[in-house]
Amino acid sequence: MNATSPRRIALRGDLLDFDADPGFAAPAHAPGVRFRPDHWLLIDDGRVAGVQAEEPDAGWTRIDHRGRLVLPGFIDTHVHSPQLDVIASYGTELLEWLNTYTFPAERRYADPVVAAAGAERFVDALLAHGTTAAVVFPTVHKVSADALFASAERRGMRLVAGKVLMDRHAPDGLRDDVASAERDCVDLIGRWHGRGRLAYALTVRFAPTSTSAQMDMAADLLAAHPGTYMQTHVAENRDEVRWVGELFPQARSYLDVYHRHRLLNERAVLAHGIWLDDTDRVLLRETGAQVAHSPSSNLFLGSGLFDWLGAEGQGAQVTLATDVGGGTSLSMIRTLADAYKVQAMRGVKLTAYKAVYGATRGAAKALHLAGEIGSFDAGTLADVCVWDWSATPLQAHRMSLAQDLHEKLFAWMTLGDERLLHTAYVAGVPRYQKDQKDQGT
Ligand code: GUN
Ligand code: ZN
Repeated sequence: MNATSPRRIALRGDLLDFDADPGFAAPAHAPGVRFRPDHWLLIDDGRVAGVQAEEPDAGWTRIDHRGRLVLPGFIDTHVHSPQLDVIASYGTELLEWLNTYTFPAERRYADPVVAAAGAERFVDALLAHGTTAAVVFPTVHKVSADALFASAERRGMRLVAGKVLMDRHAPDGLRDDVASAERDCVDLIGRWHGRGRLAYALTVRFAPTSTSAQMDMAADLLAAHPGTYMQTHVAENRDEVRWVGELFPQARSYLDVYHRHRLLNERAVLAHGIWLDDTDRVLLRETGAQVAHSPSSNLFLGSGLFDWLGAEGQGAQVTLATDVGGGTSLSMIRTLADAYKVQAMRGVKLTAYKAVYGATRGAAKALHLAGEIGSFDAGTLADVCVWDWSATPLQAHRMSLAQDLHEKLFAWMTLGDERLLHTAYVAGVPRYQKDQKDQGT
């Protein structure tokens, strides 16, 4: 992909972003929706310079996306780069799935050639799905984290990641130890944290695969390196929750294991959180940690139905994630459609506004990155995706009958997928373009 582009560009299309959380209000009363149909998004030197109805002058390279939906790039707050190798694996719940499919696949990433090829494939696939920023698990191998950061850096992407920590209950070739893990983390933090758009996350895979000593080490690094994140899994599967109870009998709950190890803070991203109670949810609010809700994965692995209203009712922040390869697609559109269905099973109606907010500005806010991504606010970096409203005759037919914006956006989200993506810009540079010959996926 040609990475050069003019300094000043203006995109014409139907601009949609959010300036507040639409919450669970009915579509007609949802706050925060900023829809500017047939407007111009001005991008100067990679940053959003403004939005206007009038055509800008010839000082701007004008790009006509009239009739297309223009959104901030999606933010996937929990995804595993090596698990494209095991996506869509049959017949297991979490613990058996890890042992049967995932751990053997991740072992291959000790090889720098495998790690480099996997990282390139993964970041290109993210962009081809309209995801311009992500919080990512590579593998336990330092080389897999190096490869991932390097691939993201070459594309100018916002990426949060860190080598996976696992010093027990994992097969040979996938375990580290406290001392080697600390050395690797310190080295990776020094090389990547705060470099361009990259940030380091202390990545405790989940409580069963880290000793207390390893979690203490991670907490010390978290405290010692300002701006680092923490990512892990929590309360995904009932057998897993039972196991954590056996491993940490002194803890009040699974979430409390992380709290006791000083791992919960406002930069903590916890995938799943299905089997939490109200005390846990209050702890999420008090610490500022967020749940990365992963509906596709939760359905596929039969994990459970996340209580989004309950979480937000206690003040916990919720973002959206694919969790590939537990999840079955890198598409945030498909993920949002699954989120709607999970909530429907709980008797809750998720609007398209709330869903898209959660995958854009909501995620940016929870990650403390709202000054950089997630909206068309002036000064943010222009991570922007241009989408067709429809890709098939049936989608076009359904769109033609939509009476208002929410009906149209909801049908788009429910029927759509990555085939709707026209162009993905990262900091104003087109990094994916439909029909371009050299694109993967
Ligand atoms: N818990 C620990 N590791 C994993 C993983 O790779 N995927 C999911 N979905 N849950 C996990
Ligand atoms: Zn996961």
